Amino acid sequence: MNINNLINPSVTKLKSYNPGLSMEAVKKKYNLDSVTKLASNENPFGPAATIDDIKNENVSLERYPDATSESLIESIASTYSLSEQSIILGNGSDELLQMIGQCFLNPKDEVLTVQPTFSIYKLVSTICAATYKEIPLNNFQYDIPALLQAITPKTKLIFLANPNNPTGTLLTQSDIEQILSKLTNGILVLDQAYAEFASDPSYGNGIPFIQTHKNVCVLQTFSKLYGLAGLRLGYALGHPELISLIAKLKMPFNVNSMALKAGTIALKNKKFIQKTLDNNETEKAFIYAEFDRLKISYVETHANFILFYGDWFAADVTEKLLQKGIIVRPLNSFGLPNAIRVSIGTRDQNQNFIDTLTLCLNQKES
Ligand SMILES: Cc1ncc(COP(=O)(O)O)c(C=O)c1O
Repeated sequence: MNINNLINPSVTKLKSYNPGLSMEAVKKKYNLDSVTKLASNENPFGPAATIDDIKNENVSLERYPDATSESLIESIASTYSLSEQSIILGNGSDELLQMIGQCFLNPKDEVLTVQPTFSIYKLVSTICAATYKEIPLNNFQYDIPALLQAITPKTKLIFLANPNNPTGTLLTQSDIEQILSKLTNGILVLDQAYAEFASDPSYGNGIPFIQTHKNVCVLQTFSKLYGLAGLRLGYALGHPELISLIAKLKMPFNVNSMALKAGTIALKNKKFIQKTLDNNETEKAFIYAEFDRLKISYVETHANFILFYGDWFAADVTEKLLQKGIIVRPLNSFGLPNAIRVSIGTRDQNQNFIDTLTLCLNQKES
């Protein structure tokens, strides 16, 4: 029997996600004592709820988690003044993206998004055998006229990250209004993984739209601001009717007991949240100033990472950085072979990144 013939044809087309090397793998490969990871937009201060905090909550690992996730859903509802029926939790927002795809997409349905953006939208659309349409960004910014023109009555799902990954650029409230007024027969998914970092008044938060539009779904995550990427916890906000459709796809115990406890603790940790946001603003300005000094081009960001580019092949630069213990993300897989994404870290991490980058670029020139 040739098992390759048994595969679902949409699965044949899938390319596995490449998360890059782990810190341990980099240490081992290059024989390094320490590495600085600024590649996955994680929180440089660690988690907003520590393992000790979770331990104090007496999690019973021998029991299944609370399938209703009541306590965390209550906390999220009160954070946003929303009803509990407007919220569903996922094993990271990745899982919610997959549930949304499976909930709404039939083969050949049209999905609309931009390029470059978060790769999971394509993965989910491919799994569902949908037709995937990408509108190029214009000078790294959303091209709203082109997006509007691409929306047709066949558009079933629109995935837009706001701020976008890997550019850090944003949609305004008016952009969202215009998109919604053209979208007559589909769902708009606003992926707000980095929303909390967007301090600019022009940022269009999708949450108010869920009160007025049944076809808007907002995704948020505990992986970035709250530093809980390792526990896998995200949530979708939407009209209760929309959430009840997505809930049909939910596996009963998709969120584990430790994540449920950690989420509730993290939401209350205002001091940690403020420290993270303050650091992001200060360190964004520091990296901009250093890039200006080094004459490196970059895109102004509304998130916790910065895209920078130059007259180089990014994978060569990131490989040199890797050898010196700095992990950043080359953006060739996003179709940007001369661009790199660096997460905003602590001052020590950022200084180390800038010093090592300077060294690597000088090495290139010699
Ligand atoms: C735009 C965007 N959405 C979603 C995610 C995934 O978040 P989670 O860790 O909650 O699955 C990421 C992670 O990098 C992201 O950049």
